[in-house]
Formats: sequence, C-alpha cells, structure tokens
Amino acid sequence: MKGLVLSVSKAAQYILFLFLGVAVHLKRSVQGENWRQPWLPQEYGIDEISGFLPPAPLPKLPAEFRKWEDALIEAQKELSLGIDESPHGQSRRTSGARWRDCIKTWPILNTDGLDGDIRFLQRAHMVLAYLVHFFAHSQPQADAGQCVLVPRSIAIPLTAVSRKLGIAPILTFADVVLWNWTVANSDLPLSADNIRHEIIFSGREDERSFYAKCAAVELQAAEALKIINQYCELPGVDDPEAITKIAEDLRNLADIVKGLKQVLESIREVVDPHTYYHEIRHWWKGSGSKEVGSPLWRYEGVDGSEILDLSGPSAGQSPAMHAIDMFLDVDHRLTEKRSPQPSASDRRADRGFMERMRRYMQKPHREYLEYMANMPYQRRVRQVAARHPKQLRNAYNEAVMALKAFRDAHIRVACLYIITMSNSEDASAPGANAKSSRGPARGTGGMEVSALLKASRNATSRTILS
Ligand code: HEM
Ligand SMILES: *[C@@H]1O[C@H](CO)[C@@H](O)[C@H](O)[C@H]1NC(C)=O
Ligand SMILES: *[C@@H]1O[C@H](CO)[C@@H](O)[C@H](O)[C@H]1NC(C)=O
Repeated sequence: MKGLVLSVSKAAQYILFLFLGVAVHLKRSVQGENWRQPWLPQEYGIDEISGFLPPAPLPKLPAEFRKWEDALIEAQKELSLGIDESPHGQSRRTSGARWRDCIKTWPILNTDGLDGDIRFLQRAHMVLAYLVHFFAHSQPQADAGQCVLVPRSIAIPLTAVSRKLGIAPILTFADVVLWNWTVANSDLPLSADNIRHEIIFSGREDERSFYAKCAAVELQAAEALKIINQYCELPGVDDPEAITKIAEDLRNLADIVKGLKQVLESIREVVDPHTYYHEIRHWWKGSGSKEVGSPLWRYEGVDGSEILDLSGPSAGQSPAMHAIDMFLDVDHRLTEKRSPQPSASDRRADRGFMERMRRYMQKPHREYLEYMANMPYQRRVRQVAARHPKQLRNAYNEAVMALKAFRDAHIRVACLYIITMSNSEDASAPGANAKSSRGPARGTGGMEVSALLKASRNATSRTILS
C-alpha cells in the first residue's frame, strides 16, 4: 500500500516536472521573441507626459468619507510632533489629544464602493496614511511607550485599500509625492515649475518644496521612460538602424540624468537642513525605525499586523529611479560578476533595500519594473552595448556615469541633511529634547545610511563597461 502511494506520488511528481518544464519552456519563448508583447505603458500606470505621476490631480473622496478628508485638514492646523517640546508644540497638546480621541470613536467605513475608480483608492490610501502618521507622531512619546496602537477606524480601511492597490499600508513616496498635488496655476499644464503639494505635516514651505523637487525628478524622468519604452518596443536590437537609435537615446538619457542631478542639488536652495532634520523628517518615520527607542506600530483589528510593511516613505521608493536602474542594469544585489570586486563594506550593506522598496510602490509600477527585470539577458542594453562596443560602449557608459554622478551628489546631500545634522544635535531645536538626543544611536543610523548610499553608488560604478 505504502509503495503504491509512493509510486503514485512519484508519478505525480514526474507529471508535475514535465508540466513545469513545458511551462518554463513556454515562458522562455515568451521572454524571447514575444517578450515585449503585450506592451502598453498605460497598463502599468504610466502616463506619457507625467510618467509615474497621475496625469491630473486626484479627486476628493465621495461625501461619505468626508470625516477623513476633514480630519486631515484639521490635523495640519492643530497637530505638532509629540517630541516637540517648544512652547508652540506644547500649546498643541490638548488639541492633538482631542483629535486622536475623536478618530478612535469613528465607525469603520467600508471602502468597497471605491473599487471602481483607482483614483479614489489612491486618494483614500493617501488620506488614511497621512492620518496614521499624524496619529502616531503627534502622540507624546511617554504615551506611546513601546508600541503605537493605530486605531481600527483608520487601520482597517487603510489595510483594505492597500491590498487593492498592492501597496504597503503606510505612508509611501506615492502618497507624499505622486498623489497629492494640484497645479499651482490652473491656466498652465502640469510641469516641474507648476506643481503644488497640498498636504504637509510640518506647516513648513521647506516640506512642500521637498515634495516638489521629488516630483520634478519624476516628471523629468518621464522623458527617460519614453526612451526606455521605445527600447522595449524595438523589434530587434542588433541591426544597424536600431544601434544608431540606441546610441542616440543613451546620450539623451545621460543628459536627462544630469538634469535629475541638478534638481537634486537645487534642493539646497529651498530646503533648510535644520528644518528638514528636526521638523520634517520625524513625521515620515514608520514602525520601529532604526533609531533606538522608536516604537513598533500595531494596527488594531488587522490580522498579522506585525508582518505588514510599515517603514515610512523614502525617495528610495521613486519608481523613476528604479526604472533607470533596471534599464541600465545596475546590480544592487551584487549577484553579477563585475569589476571592481565589491568591498567588504559593500557586501555588508543592505543589499535587499531596493527590492524591498518596491513593495512600497503600487502594483502596476512594481509590475513595470518586473517586466523590465524579465527582459531576456541578451536583450538588456548593457549586453547589447557590450556586443557593439564601437558604436555603443561610450554612450552606454556616459549614461551610467551620469547615474553614478547623481548618486555621488545624493551622498553629499544625505550627508548635509542627515549625517551632519545627527552629529550636531542641537538641544534648542523644536524637534530635539533630552529624550531624542541619543547621539550614538543616531550615529549608528547615520553610518548605516552612509554605507547604504555608498554601496548603491559603488554598484552603479560596477555597471560601467570596460
Ligand atoms: C534632502 C534631500 C534628500 C535626502 C536627505 C535623502 C536621503 C536619503 C537617505 C537617507 C536614503 C537611504 C534610505 C532611507 O533612509 O530611506 C536615501 C535613499 C534614496 N534616495 Fe534620497 N534623499 C534626498 C533626496 C532624494 C531625491 C530628490 C531623490 C530622487 C528621487 C532621491 C532618491 C533616492 C534613492 C533612489 C534612494 C535609494 C538608494 C539609492 O538609489 O542610492 N533622494 N535618500
Ligand atoms: C491634496 O490634498 C488637498 C487637501 O486635502 C486637496 O485639496 C487636494 O485636492 C489634494 N490633491 C490630490 C491630488 O489629492
Ligand atoms: C565603495 O568603494 C570605495 C572605493 O572603491 C571603497 O573604499 C568602499 O569601501 C566601498 N564601499 C562602501 C560601502 O563605501
């Protein structure tokens, strides 16, 4: 009897392997010739002009969700960081407590009615995620203790809409940058200069400017997406005509990336490092951030709350930057044999960071990146450039070096805004008090940040073809 069961299961296994073999074969042939089909950027939530930003501002939620929208407006007027011990912060304690108590009494609204329109789902995610961060960070630390309990009235609907969007149930780059803007001048089209982010935590123009700069990166990168998409559509990549086009496009891509670096550097003109570090950045932190003493967040009424992705927004979630990385074939995981050899500290850095950040993107954007990741090896632009060095190597390397220069600039920015600030904690700052000036802990966080960003820059260097 046992033998029979075994051989039946063997046969089943055999059939399974046969089936898998056929499936893999089918998948390979799909990845080959027909890999680019079907190919519709719109299906991946990409607009020709605005790229990963929606083409127009999101509409407000229907009337039955009015409470959420109103609470968000109120929060911006009445809440301060719980760790803000300045007179201004103190003066908002009572209104903050009232706001939080009120949220706890809300009924749990059903969000199924929003399913028909992705713009409503996005808006609901944005509004609820802001409410969650306002709730968690306006609590005085003593009240929060080891754990922030996010009330079910916001935790449950946020988790529900997040599942539908395929995005983490927490404030993300999409919420702060991609989804909450209007055009500043409604007579003109959306552009990097004509965009205004509405919801901010700190009441500081610096925060609004920071979001606008990130959005400018996304908008300018929409041009890069066009290049990438046209590359994906090429019937073949080795014929002379294609090669001429690819060379030209790679040079254009290098120029676009140089432009992104300029946007990044221009942040200094509009965002004050002190304000950024002490008044803005705290609001973004999610559950159990690296700094010692950061409480874990628990979502009341949500099963498996402890395994949710709950680190806050990061520009590391920028779909545009990921798309450029994928196209140029930057190997953040250090799995490819490339030179120079990664250093010991590169290997120690958080190599899964970029992949993890994709869970904080909405599903279509993540799928776009997966689509690119599935590009057959021989078709990847790095391989194509290696096959045709005379025509393509320089152009390809120029694009990669522009990206490396972006990351060099990014390291300098992070150093100015985070590492220097954390080393010079200043007790008079509104966001700093005895409890939060944990010098060594921040130092460790700062070192991790620096190792991560340097490893990322080094991985970009390794992409260069010699
Ligand atoms: C004041 C300005 C900025 C500061 C202080 C800053 C800081 C950081 C930090 C600390 C990280 C590490 C991961 C994390 O903690 O979330 C990071 C990652 C990242 N940031 Fe920024 N950032 C800034 C602006 C930008 C802008 C404008 C972009 C472009 C969209 C950008 C793109 C990225 C990317 C793609 C990563 C992932 C790591 C990498 O690709 O090297 N950052 N940033
Ligand atoms: C952003 O939030 C503000 C304030 O609630 C709202 O008026 C505006 O329409 C929002 N924009 C988007 C794109 O959601
Ligand atoms: C990056 O490369 C530099 C120079 O090759 C090296 O000194 C450094 O250890 C590498 N890694 C990190 C994380 O800095």
